Amino acid sequence: MSKPYSIIVSSQKGGVGKTTISVNLSTALKQSGYKVLLVDADYSNPSVGFHLGLENTNAGLRAVVTGKAKLDTVVALHNPTGLHVLTGEISAKPFHPSNAQQKGLRENLERSGYDFIIIDMPPGAEDFEEVEAFCCENSRQALIVLTPELAACSSAMRLAQFYEKNHIIHNMVANRVKNKGYELSVGEIEEAVGEGLIGVLPEDENVPISIAQHTPVLLLKSRSGFSTAVKSLARRAASRLGYEPGEAKNVRGSFGFFAWLKRLFGR
Ligand SMILES: Nc1ncnc2c1ncn2[C@@H]1O[C@H](COP(=O)(O)OP(=O)(O)OP(=O)(O)O)[C@@H](O)[C@H]1O
Ligand SMILES: [Mg+2]
Repeated sequence: MSKPYSIIVSSQKGGVGKTTISVNLSTALKQSGYKVLLVDADYSNPSVGFHLGLENTNAGLRAVVTGKAKLDTVVALHNPTGLHVLTGEISAKPFHPSNAQQKGLRENLERSGYDFIIIDMPPGAEDFEEVEAFCCENSRQALIVLTPELAACSSAMRLAQFYEKNHIIHNMVANRVKNKGYELSVGEIEEAVGEGLIGVLPEDENVPISIAQHTPVLLLKSRSGFSTAVKSLARRAASRLGYEPGEAKNVRGSFGFFAWLKRLFGR
């Protein structure tokens, strides 16, 4: 049995679209015929369940990480997509798994038999053990989600630096792109972050509509701009290519503030 390939969907900033992308990317990969597990890695504020109408499902992640249950006994089936989902637990008590528990979780995921494991991370996760718990060894990629504004770009660069330090291949995805004059253009984002984007996802009102209907956009409006862009992201992410740590990333020459940002983050 080959190891699953983990795709970690992450950002420093909150609310940029990680859960939306995780749910729809998983759906796109499932529709392409892969065996897919979607994991809600937010131990405190899980939200995959809300997006898929699985909020009343018994939470699985804590049970697996604490050794109370085996992965295959707590994975929920999302009937409309056929996705397998490891949901989180909404809880008033904070929960921080030990390093041994996190290592155990990774071993469980590595043996699970899925082709892809998509991990919806909480915002700002910069604890290597926490990230590594969801990474199948040498078979992983992190997506860094950003929106077309400078604050999102600078926090994405910070996260890229973290992945590079920890030898995790990464790619950046722009979400909520409106192509308005007041926002950064795709070229400006690439110039700011110093690398090409693996995906550009448009602002699309089908996204909030789909969340309200607890259905992925890909099922609700398969030909919408967002769905088309997610399918293309899925094809590219599934090809497993990403920026290797230390790779040259100068997409274009840069100057002024962007150059200063790049120097700050060693890019
Ligand atoms: N492409 C898009 N077009 C329109 N709205 C979007 C798009 N992407 C995300 N949104 C909206 O942004 C909000 C936040 O999305 P989401 O919950 O996926 O972000 P997140 O990064 O997972 O947030 P958190 O950091 O809290 O986990 C949602 O209400 C969603 O409707
Ligand atoms: Mg989220």
